[in-house]
Amino acid sequence: MVTVPRDINADANPLRQLSLEQLRRRTSMKWRTYPDDVLPLWVAEMDVPLAEPIARAIVAAVELGDTGYPVGTAYAEALAEFARARWGWDGFAVERTAIVPDVMLGVVEMLKLVSGPGDPVVVNCPVYPPFYQFIESMGRPVVEAPLDPGGRIDFAELDAAFVRALAGGSRPAYLLCSPHNPTGTVHTAAELAEVARLARARGVRVVADEIHAPIVAEGATFVPYLTVPGAESGLSLMSASKAWNLAGLKAALAIAGPAAAGDLARMPEVVSHGPSHVGIIAHTAALRDGGDWLDALLAALDDNRRLLAKLLGEHLPAVRYEPAEATYLAWLDCGALDLGDDPAAVFLRRGRVALNSGPDFGTGGAGFVRMNLATSPELITEAVHRMTAAVTR
Ligand SMILES: Cc1ncc(COP(=O)(O)O)c(C=O)c1O
Repeated sequence: MVTVPRDINADANPLRQLSLEQLRRRTSMKWRTYPDDVLPLWVAEMDVPLAEPIARAIVAAVELGDTGYPVGTAYAEALAEFARARWGWDGFAVERTAIVPDVMLGVVEMLKLVSGPGDPVVVNCPVYPPFYQFIESMGRPVVEAPLDPGGRIDFAELDAAFVRALAGGSRPAYLLCSPHNPTGTVHTAAELAEVARLARARGVRVVADEIHAPIVAEGATFVPYLTVPGAESGLSLMSASKAWNLAGLKAALAIAGPAAAGDLARMPEVVSHGPSHVGIIAHTAALRDGGDWLDALLAALDDNRRLLAKLLGEHLPAVRYEPAEATYLAWLDCGALDLGDDPAAVFLRRGRVALNSGPDFGTGGAGFVRMNLATSPELITEAVHRMTAAVTR
């Protein structure tokens, strides 16, 4: 008989449930890439136990031996309900969705539908490093459209990038990151409508990676790309994986705007063989029953952003940090510390704290580090102390 390991109180801070000793027993990338004397605040895994409704759904599947192949639209229906409740999205069409193995493989499939080999793909740098890796592995060049200094889309840069992309191939695409990783920018409805207008005017297809959508700070409102005027031919990727820490339980959803339904229908049926049935059960439970847990997480992340700003102000005032409106990531400008292009290498070597290296995020990343705030206040405090020691010795 399998039992749910812990009964997590939905009101409790999910980021304070596990001790460092428990976390070090984990075997995932975050905890096993570096030796034990390194404090890992890098890759986007969260230091949380599984939300109890998700654990129950997985345990129920295991008890039943319900570990076969997936079928049906339960995941999309759960997302439709979540999208209505959280974002006021009434027009979410379950019939215009497809289950894909994960968000990045979904991005690859969507780009295959709207662009051809060799067609450029525009991204807003600095951006999630796998955007470069996946696009290039598909034989498509990346065209960078840098964000403005405030981390917002620079429409002159975007238009210039569209023009360059059109010069390089007949069916270019734009991979939008919304909310944006690593800056945590939440694009406004007006900005997204301008994206749609510009893309239409230039004949560029938009694929939106909206994996961080549920993780917004107090007062911020996420706007789904497919809800803005002019985005009818857009494609979106969503998943419960970031907000409920389900990266190891593979599943995501591709969603087509009304004018992209025909494109999505051309996605090879075999792509739907990739997601895990148990993964889909977990993601569905997260979206359907994990709202209270998510709210507790969001409150804890608000606290962690405030804590980081306070700690940096006290100990590393030369580091520039603007608490983000979304994601659990902090994008830190360490340029004034004079640690070179890759301060994360210095923090790792001298401070034994693992952060992400800014230069991996493309143009605009030099001098920056990305810190993962989905951990306890105690470990954030320890990380800042280690960073401080690394630059004051
Ligand atoms: C913007 C963005 N897209 C995709 C992913 C990865 O998602 P998946 O594991 O579903 O491919 C991440 C992970 O951090 C991300 O930040």
